[in-house]
Amino acid sequence: MLIRNPEATPESARTILRRNDRGGYTVPNGRIYPFQWNWDSGFVALGYLTFDDKRAWQELDALFAGQWDDGMVPHIVFHKPAEGYYPGPEIWGTRHAPPTSGISQPPVITSAVLRLFREAKDREAAGKNARALFPKLLAWHRWWHETRDPERSGLVTSVHPWESGRDNLPDWDAPLAAVTPKLDVSALRKDITHVNADERPSHDFYNRVMTLVEEAKALGWNGARVARELSFRVCDLGIQCILMRADRDLRALAEALSQPVVGEIDGWLAQESAAFGRLVAPDGSFRSLDLRSGQLSPAVTAATFMPLYARAVDAAAASALARLFEQWMTRVAFAVPSTDPSYPGFDPQRYWRGPVWLIMNFMIADGFVAYGFDHIADRIRRDSRAIVRRSGFMEYFDPRDGRGLGGCDFSWSAAIALYWGLLD
Ligand code: GLC
Repeated sequence: MLIRNPEATPESARTILRRNDRGGYTVPNGRIYPFQWNWDSGFVALGYLTFDDKRAWQELDALFAGQWDDGMVPHIVFHKPAEGYYPGPEIWGTRHAPPTSGISQPPVITSAVLRLFREAKDREAAGKNARALFPKLLAWHRWWHETRDPERSGLVTSVHPWESGRDNLPDWDAPLAAVTPKLDVSALRKDITHVNADERPSHDFYNRVMTLVEEAKALGWNGARVARELSFRVCDLGIQCILMRADRDLRALAEALSQPVVGEIDGWLAQESAAFGRLVAPDGSFRSLDLRSGQLSPAVTAATFMPLYARAVDAAAASALARLFEQWMTRVAFAVPSTDPSYPGFDPQRYWRGPVWLIMNFMIADGFVAYGFDHIADRIRRDSRAIVRRSGFMEYFDPRDGRGLGGCDFSWSAAIALYWGLLD
């Protein structure tokens, strides 16, 4: 029996966003993540859009204050010093002002800008803001398609599990096993002082991912060298799908704003579509690809449904994904578990190895609607609503019973609940 959480109201969701506002940018959660995170801000902007257009645009402007000269938009912008997070700016050592991390995150921002441009109440400001952001978005897309796809293969390279935003997926086990850990950071971690260790990644994982940061630092964070030389190089199915959708959305913006770059964007879309088949496993599911070993990931994750969000597949593949979704749902009570519930490493409480994340649900449901599977999208929305009402705006949720996990008062959970109308 679900108990309606008295905290899960539109007003409490707005209060969380306001409380996590640090003056123009919003922290995902004040204790565990006290800085601005890239893709979190894309969803947070949608939350603000429901009650304060101006603040929504401001969120994105703050993020782009961290954009690098080569176009990259970093995954963390450390606007102001804050306690409680490892690795902080001094560890990344990127020498950017404001200080930032050295990797990116899935480019949901472009799609958020398109929604703001179309849906914001103040039409004049929407045109002005979208026009001002357009060249910055374009530079970021070029960075993905050029710096992060040096061979112009149509598949972009990710160099760090944190870049995927789905940090400890089973997809990263094999590519990370090939990274020789050169340091022991277990005593430096702060995440496990805030959240149960069994809901967080292992020490071994942290030692390896921090080794990657050291490798990139030794290359002076040179984008071209990082893309070719880091000992972790994968094509993340999530990033690839989100980028492809972002390319479509950038194209729509370019047309609306009469920007003469539609031909260039069409070129990217053609390359991505041609390469997409490299991410299909023999069973028809979609996977991440280890670019060093050439192996597809052995696990199926919730990103297998993301080609629908990218509009990257035909009707037959979409029907196969709808059948796969129904199979998954025979094993769990709440959609959508982050990893295939029949996978041996499925772990319903650990971060990206099983729990439900509302932002993924929002994108997966969007994809199913686009292909005419409204009943599946409704199911995902209904489940999202039920878990928020039961557990509030937690970071992630157990797909067996909807119990909240990770950090509480999470900005993107509150924002998606507002934008998706889960609290009405
Ligand atoms: C975790 C998530 C990542 C998110 C960040 C801030 O690291 O895995 O996707 O951006 O928290 O919420």
